[in-house]
Amino acid sequence: MLVEGPVRIVGEDGTEVTSDRFVVAVCRCHRSGIYPLCDTSHRRSARTPRR
Ligand code: FES
Repeated sequence: MLVEGPVRIVGEDGTEVTSDRFVVAVCRCHRSGIYPLCDTSHRRSARTPRR
């Protein structure tokens, strides 16, 4: 999900992530290594592993 920046995301545990970018990609699949921000891990299918 793309949102206009800058953003400040506060997790349920109180942790905060900030970004000053003009547009920020927020992860909605929970696969990202930099969650809550998207690292494009959503592109990898769980059913068809890469070779
Ligand atoms: S939406 Fe989760 S990694 Fe991109």
